[in-house]
Amino acid sequence: MVDTSSQSQQTWSQRFESALHPAIARFNASIGFDIELIEYDITGSQAHAQMLSHTGIISSEEGKQLVEGLEQIRQEYRQGQFHPGIDAEDVHFAVERRLTELIGDTGKKLHTARSRNDQVGTDTRLYLRDQITHLRQQLRSFQAVMVELAERHIETLIPGYTHLQRAQPLSLAHHLLAYVEMTQRDWERLGDVYKRVNISPLGCGALAGTTFPIDRHYAAELLQFDRVYSNSLDGVSDRDFAIEFLCAASLIMVHLSRLAEEVILWASEEFRFVTLKDSCSTGSSIMPQKKNPDVPELVRGKTGRVFGHLQALLVLMKGLPLAYNKDLQDDKEALFDGVKTVQGCLEAMTILMQEGLEFRTVRLNEAVNEDFSNATDVADYLAAKGVPFREAYNLVGKVVKTSLAANKLLKDLTLEEWKALHPAFEADIYQAITPHQVVAARNSYGGTGFEQVRRALAEAKQRLNES
Ligand code: ARG
Repeated sequence: MVDTSSQSQQTWSQRFESALHPAIARFNASIGFDIELIEYDITGSQAHAQMLSHTGIISSEEGKQLVEGLEQIRQEYRQGQFHPGIDAEDVHFAVERRLTELIGDTGKKLHTARSRNDQVGTDTRLYLRDQITHLRQQLRSFQAVMVELAERHIETLIPGYTHLQRAQPLSLAHHLLAYVEMTQRDWERLGDVYKRVNISPLGCGALAGTTFPIDRHYAAELLQFDRVYSNSLDGVSDRDFAIEFLCAASLIMVHLSRLAEEVILWASEEFRFVTLKDSCSTGSSIMPQKKNPDVPELVRGKTGRVFGHLQALLVLMKGLPLAYNKDLQDDKEALFDGVKTVQGCLEAMTILMQEGLEFRTVRLNEAVNEDFSNATDVADYLAAKGVPFREAYNLVGKVVKTSLAANKLLKDLTLEEWKALHPAFEADIYQAITPHQVVAARNSYGGTGFEQVRRALAEAKQRLNES
């Protein structure tokens, strides 16, 4: 009889005469992080076992034993009773070893017609599918909060900026809805990525397929994959799907980070557009007056991590000859951390926007009344009366200059002063340059005019109700 006692330590073949150097075993092991995949590994293995019995490669009794044994491991894990050590190398070996402990020699049949290479690819895709679904729900919750906030602030005005210089006033709702649009693209993009995640590599074997009469489509259907990889080499070594995900995740982070940056600015003494609530901000250990915007700062900071993971995977892949290389084991920490970071940031930003801040409407109203962001409207006023726009623009530039020198705002000019500038000015100029009118007048499709904002809001709400 072959002595298999050493096999509990040494999982691969008998061609190895001595055990791994302990430091190398630690270096090689992925169990410390790929335990994250355990439930997906079990689900994938159950489908594989069912396929093996369906095709007659193993008996149906054996198939049943495998599926049940795997289910028992799932329960052990959920109850916190499964703690494989470094000697298990990775989650795949850990599960297989435990299965054999539980059901005996039948457990050793599980790996028939499969390799860890197609197995790990299957697990990662099953994992990512779930994470994408969760993330898309989170995006919907974020949008719902932003839409609700927008609805309350249709007629609240906020200065609009270009180059961080006051440009034209906006409906605050319009500003908030811009983020709903960005995250709508994120939601759609993730749906698109999902299609390329949802392809089964199971049955590609180590690299070349298998000699057994397997039915890849059957296993794929059990796992609800849309289709199977049609080239085994590609199937085991493709990580495009993970890169695409991290790319979509990076764009989500870009959007969250821009909002985070705005909140940080708005909360500053210089802007005073929002007040941070105690539930989402912290104090300083030495400056008692401070209230810090930690949540948006962390979100802005963590954005770099997700970009880094994307970069890491791109570089990881670029020089790999076909097919599997151990480098690919290193995709996981980047992917898992990317997933957790974006999910964590989205949750925190949703809470922040929902209950962590309040817009200071009185201050916002002052802000839009204290600048020259209605200057374009004076030029538009003249242009509407037949003055060529460029001429009107130059004239208003002059008015702004003299008003600044006189420490006046445009609304402070007398009708005589207006008329002296151009005879086309009438008393209705005052109404035309109130911030409310300035906003209302921008009724071009997609503009900040209240009518447009109401339409955009209705559309955003409808999208939320549809999915
Ligand atoms: N832990 C490995 C990984 O994550 C599983 C695949 C190992 N395959 C191999 N040929 N050594 O990539």
